[in-house]
Amino acid sequence: MKVLVTGGAGFIGSNFIRYLLSRHRSYRIINLDKLTYAGNLDNLKDVEKNPRYRFVRGDICDAGLVDKLAKSVDVIMNFAAETHVDRSIMESGSFIKTDVMGTHALLEAAKKHGIKKYIQVSTDEVYGSIRKGSFTEKSNLSPNSPYSSSKAGGDLLARSYFVTHKVPVIITRSSNNFGPYQYPEKVIPLFVTNAIENKRLPLYGDGKNVRDWLYVGDNCRALELVLRKGKAGEIYNIGGGNEITNLELTKMILEFAGKGPELIKKVKDRPGHDRRYSLDFSKIRRELGYRPSRDFKKLLCETVGWYIRNERWWRRLKDGDFRSYYRRQYKRN
Ligand code: NAD
Ligand code: TYD
Repeated sequence: MKVLVTGGAGFIGSNFIRYLLSRHRSYRIINLDKLTYAGNLDNLKDVEKNPRYRFVRGDICDAGLVDKLAKSVDVIMNFAAETHVDRSIMESGSFIKTDVMGTHALLEAAKKHGIKKYIQVSTDEVYGSIRKGSFTEKSNLSPNSPYSSSKAGGDLLARSYFVTHKVPVIITRSSNNFGPYQYPEKVIPLFVTNAIENKRLPLYGDGKNVRDWLYVGDNCRALELVLRKGKAGEIYNIGGGNEITNLELTKMILEFAGKGPELIKKVKDRPGHDRRYSLDFSKIRRELGYRPSRDFKKLLCETVGWYIRNERWWRRLKDGDFRSYYRRQYKRN
């Protein structure tokens, strides 16, 4: 099987490529990535010489390039996106371009070349926030940030290509991922690396917002199940079953990094900050046999250890583009 993975130089995509290459000796992968600030070929150093892997630098909005690549593959898995909520609050044009227009270019190519499966990697954020209970795949979409709205645009467009054009689309909506190779603007790597540097951890608002944490390795297993066994036209929620407040999460990170609570700094809340995400993921359990790992604390501790051991990896990112973003971001506090 030949798979076109887009956005494979990012956090989840790179973990997924490594996972797929190691699990399936007959699979070949083309990784199409624009290498934005979040794309990093260091994430894939260990597979770059694998003869079953090929990297192409390019934009998913480039219809000509996408068309050429789609011609030679069986499956498209679209991970490519602008992904950070805080950046989407400062500037949202690139989110609409990549997350909506880029998805459109991929869907058009999938339609034209009779792709066997098109997997749209969407997010639980398209459902919006929920006080009680959990979202199922049938819940309405009610995204609140420019990021989640742009993802909802791509998600709905993908669905429409199944209904109208019979493109075999599958949509996955996962909760917040954590693990190795996550760009240090997202809360877990930001807080771990700040703790290592003895810098303050900027906790938004009252710290009581809840996220459901999913280990990236679990998401990769779920995505592989969807690739092999998922049914066209279906949506699958992928949850971790680990809901905790940001304050609880922050305290755990500090404990595992061997630092004290004095590093916590409560800062002004993010505008439109979703209070709670919660997914009902019984469908993928029941239909595809997905089970998330049980030991969240152990996986979080291992993740903290990974960032402690791999300072060279994140130091380069924090000293680069990130620095000006971070300054702009925290000027408001
Ligand atoms: P990331 O920001 O780490 O990586 C995104 C990748 O996409 C980068 O390599 C970047 O260079 C590439 N990219 C961006 N624009 C592109 C374009 N126009 N053309 C080609 N490549 C482009 O993101 P991530 O955290 O790995 O997320 C991957 C996918 O999973 C995204 O679609 C995201 O919405 C979704 N998702 C992420 C999470 C999470 O917790 N990280 C949760 C649910 C869903
Ligand atoms: P983030 O990693 O940006 O993911 P998302 O907003 O997509 O869920 O943020 C996770 C949670 O952590 C979210 O409730 C916002 C909060 N947060 C902070 O408190 N401080 C920070 O500096 C960041 C980046 C996030």
